[in-house]
Amino acid sequence: MTPNQPGQMPKMPIPGVKYLIAVGSGKGGVGKTTVAVNLAVGLASLGYKAGLMDADVYGPNVPLMMGVNSTPMAYGDRIQPLEQFGVKLMSMGFLNPGDKPLVWRGPMLHSVIQQFLRGVDWGQLDYLVIDLPPGTGDVQLSLIQTAPITGAIVVTTPSDVSLEDARKAIHMFHQVKVPILGIVENMSFLMCPHCNERIDVFSHGGGRRTAEQMQVHFLGELPLNPAVRIGGDTGKPVVLQDGAPQAGFLELARNLVQRVVEIGPQDGPKIEISD
Ligand SMILES: Nc1ncnc2c1ncn2[C@@H]1O[C@H](COP(=O)(O)OP(=O)(O)O)[C@@H](O)[C@H]1O
Ligand SMILES: [Mg+2]
Repeated sequence: MTPNQPGQMPKMPIPGVKYLIAVGSGKGGVGKTTVAVNLAVGLASLGYKAGLMDADVYGPNVPLMMGVNSTPMAYGDRIQPLEQFGVKLMSMGFLNPGDKPLVWRGPMLHSVIQQFLRGVDWGQLDYLVIDLPPGTGDVQLSLIQTAPITGAIVVTTPSDVSLEDARKAIHMFHQVKVPILGIVENMSFLMCPHCNERIDVFSHGGGRRTAEQMQVHFLGELPLNPAVRIGGDTGKPVVLQDGAPQAGFLELARNLVQRVVEIGPQDGPKIEISD
């Protein structure tokens, strides 16, 4: 056993942060950032202290989806997170705004992830939600090796292509011993606004089925709904607007809290579930 083996390094707690929730997927475009944003804002609206760390360093969408484009200040060597809708925020998009891509290698990614985790003044948080990039690459490993992640949420659509990659993500988390909090099926169904019929655009039920097959929890279905996309594009998360998507995201937030209580605290006391 060497200190460099995945999962074998000491995982120091992030002071003041009770639970670290990683939101991952096998594939891009399945709604990971949408889920991370609405989950964090949903947790805050349920009364929890929430933060959102955008670990998608190459494709940071949190600033746009949260409607924030300022630059964080630093006091001494501590970066002050921005705040929106009661959620503390950090994203590479605040430091490298615009369309210019970053071209970074593994060690630089590793150090920026460490900065985001430990160089940011997160204060006291119940939940720090981490929006992961797609797949099973360097950022995921860097985080998993060094942060005491409470558990991971895997986002998928019901399509077979997405489910195939979601299974890989679940295997990765199993391999590195990060508990799976559960699977979320996003874009699960569309309620046609014209005929009020339900349309299963990307099929339906694959998330629940995969959860059963892989013996992980199923955390819920989120509808495919234009309001979700509009909320993302305009920086007004849909979980703050009345409607079916709001109900879905709040249920997801409650289910997550329930799962965290079941898994038990990594450090610090259990927290109460609010209704
Ligand atoms: N349930 C949904 N209904 C409608 N649009 C959605 C839904 N979930 C995500 N989207 C849209 O799909 C696109 C991709 O979502 P995003 O969260 O960026 O995916 P990822 O982070 O997995 O790449 C975005 O434009 C987002 O607004
Ligand atoms: Mg994303």
